[in-house]
Amino acid sequence: MLKYTELVLDHFKNPRNMGRMEDADVTATEGSIACGDMMTVYLKIENDRIVDIKFESYGCAANIATASMMTEVVKGMTIEEAKKITWKDIVERLGGLPQIKYHCSNLAVDTLKKAIEEYEKSLARK
Ligand code: FES
Ligand code: FES
Repeated sequence: MLKYTELVLDHFKNPRNMGRMEDADVTATEGSIACGDMMTVYLKIENDRIVDIKFESYGCAANIATASMMTEVVKGMTIEEAKKITWKDIVERLGGLPQIKYHCSNLAVDTLKKAIEEYEKSLARK
């Protein structure tokens, strides 16, 4: 049995910002090389600021919890601030994660980063 912190369990049982976003400005789906699981991030961006974020996870409890915490951390941040977020920041905010579950938090942050890349690509096309 893996040991999760109370905060991890809370975010797993009551994920924040989970679900689809119909009017997202960017959407990105990423898969984990480590486990093959996938997740999607939706961003609503105004004046280079993340005004809303949602996620869908097809991963495990640790992925749902870290994705949930990640959305809380980056909501309201500028794109530049959000780019600096690392999976370690999220794991720290959750009070830790079993080491074999680190890749699940990587997946959460990688999907965010991919969504930000998509946003920047869409700006470059304008
Ligand atoms: Fe996929 Fe954990 S191995 S949910
Ligand atoms: Fe696949 Fe956690 S084991 S996301």
